[in-house]
Order: sequence, then C-alpha cells, then structure tokens
Amino acid sequence: MNRDDAWNLLCEFTQTESLRKHALAVEFAMRAYARRYGEDEELWGVVGLVHDFDYEQNPTIPEHTAVGAKIMHERGWPEEIVTAMLSHADYSGVPRTTTMQKALAAVDELTGLISAVALVRPSKNIADVTVKSVKNKWKDKAFAAGVNRKEIEQCAADLGVPLEEHIGVVLAALQAHAVELGLGGPLASQQS
Ligand SMILES: [Fe+2]
Ligand SMILES: [Fe+2]
Repeated sequence: MNRDDAWNLLCEFTQTESLRKHALAVEFAMRAYARRYGEDEELWGVVGLVHDFDYEQNPTIPEHTAVGAKIMHERGWPEEIVTAMLSHADYSGVPRTTTMQKALAAVDELTGLISAVALVRPSKNIADVTVKSVKNKWKDKAFAAGVNRKEIEQCAADLGVPLEEHIGVVLAALQAHAVELGLGGPLASQQS
C-alpha cells in the first residue's frame, strides 16, 4: 500500500474539503517526524493520510475507527497500518506502543490548532505563525475550543518531545505545504 492507495481510500470515503485537508496536514506532520527519527517516511505518511478516512461517514464513537478497520481488513491493508489507525482513538482500546502511533496521536489535534491560528492572522498565511503565537492560543480556551490542549500535552510527553519543540516540528511541516493546505493566504489559494 503506497501513498496513492492511501489518497484514493481517503477520497473514496471523504468528500469534505476540510477533512481532506486535515488528513494532508497529519500526513505532512507524520512525514516530518519520520524523517526526524530516521523511520519509513512513506509508511508514516500513509498512516497520517488514512487515520480519519471513515470519519465523514462514521463520526460517532466507536464507529469511527471500528468501521474503518473493518473496511481496511476486507481490502487487505497491512495490520501495522490498521492498528496505527485504530490507536489514534483512545476508545478503540488499542494501546499506543510504537513511536509511529505516539507521533500520530501527538500531531492529530495540534495540526487543527495551528491551522486555526493561521486563519485568524490578517494574512491568513501560516508563514506568519510562530511557535509563540501558537503557545499564546494555548491558554485561550475559547479559541478553537474543540482542541483538547491537555491531550496534546500528554501525547507529546508520551512521544518524549517537549511541547514547544513539538509545536515547532508540526508548524514547520505545515508551513512547507501551505498552499496545499489552504494556509498560504488568499492569493495562494486563488492560484491553487
Ligand atoms: Fe479520528
Ligand atoms: Fe484526525
């Protein structure tokens, strides 16, 4: 299973643009961490891309991830990828034992918070976002209220990366793909 297979699986089950962008953001963050740890970048990217592929059709607990795992099993996806996908949801009961699984959990919600910070910049450009500006929104509970800061902190600690460093890794990964993520400002998105 390669990146094309992952993208096709995602798009077959996900029409919503924002959900596809979320999958891409998590893919880019996972690739950054794979490079950092000298791991298999393609594998980690695939896991990021597919981790929420069943969410649009199954947004409820525990269907989200359980239905996805069933579909992946039927289609012969490798167990390593299915297990990693399952592990991002605490309620799936699959413990996070590998660095890949821990990285997935740590980047998942953080990509959403960083994107939200970019979109409230006057430029709507992620190039103008800094680690400090993300940290400033950390305490602002009303901002991107759906993002569980405590969970990100816990997952970063579980991964063994200090929070500010973690934000820096994910921010740089998203900045490198600003236009694809719709975070390159209004001019960039007109061109894409
Ligand atoms: Fe999810
Ligand atoms: Fe997600």
